[in-house]
Amino acid sequence: MKTLKYFFKKAKKEEWAIGQFNFSTLEQLKAIVNVAEKLKSPVILGTSQGEANFFGLEEAVLLRNLYRKKFPYIYLNLDHGKDVNLIKKAINLGYDCVHFDGSSLNFQENLKITKKIVKYAHKKGCLVEGEIKSIQGSSEIHKGLPKDVLLEDIERAKEFVKKTEIDSLAINIGNVHGVYKKSIRLNIEHLKKIKREIPIFLVLHGGSGTSKKDIKEAIKNGVVKINVNTELRKAWREGLEKSLKKHEDTIKPYNILPEVILKVEETVEKKIKLFKSQR
Ligand code: G3H
Ligand code: ZN
Repeated sequence: MKTLKYFFKKAKKEEWAIGQFNFSTLEQLKAIVNVAEKLKSPVILGTSQGEANFFGLEEAVLLRNLYRKKFPYIYLNLDHGKDVNLIKKAINLGYDCVHFDGSSLNFQENLKITKKIVKYAHKKGCLVEGEIKSIQGSSEIHKGLPKDVLLEDIERAKEFVKKTEIDSLAINIGNVHGVYKKSIRLNIEHLKKIKREIPIFLVLHGGSGTSKKDIKEAIKNGVVKINVNTELRKAWREGLEKSLKKHEDTIKPYNILPEVILKVEETVEKKIKLFKSQR
């Protein structure tokens, strides 16, 4: 069985990125897996704390295991984990990766807890993603433009990576969560500096509503994992609204929901092709 680390290394060498696609419903999950299988692309299924609590950590692990029989390269990540108990539970259940988001803590506290999680996770073969400076925004459709554009402090990141021994880092290069009035541009020059100084796997959050040209440049410059959520939520809701209107006269979920799956599949397919992760 090829591990997630195997694909991170391969992606780095060959200049492509693995998509992390967040889900909280079975339609979204089915859509992600269907496209992964069709395009032979490794994928990471992401569950934030809210998504994991709604869907169930155990359910997520059991379904990953089941879908691996159809297509083996499906991995699970606990996204933006802040609750250490939930993170430990995910590790014990067999998540492939956990993201500890200690960005709201002070630097030393974040470093201390991240380091402990790394020790715990690595014993069980689970990777850890760290975050220092909080990635702004939320996975929603926003009316205006993002408030702040943050850039990673490279010296701090170097110290953090060295002392915690994390596997990957969620970086700030102008990326934000959510979709805004205008497409988001990334600071590729800053990414080049990060890549030169920080020798671990780099993760780009806020994969929705970002300039396609900048995503391609980010991949060329060392990003190996890109997180996508808002566009999948949007596709799910739009698909559902459209289908409910079209099937006004039925209450059969199996007649209403296939169109929701199709709509999410379209989004996942576009992203996988943009990230060049199809094999
Ligand atoms: O952690 C999740 C991602 O960063 C999602 O970002 O909602 O902008 O696609 P997004
Ligand atoms: Zn994120």
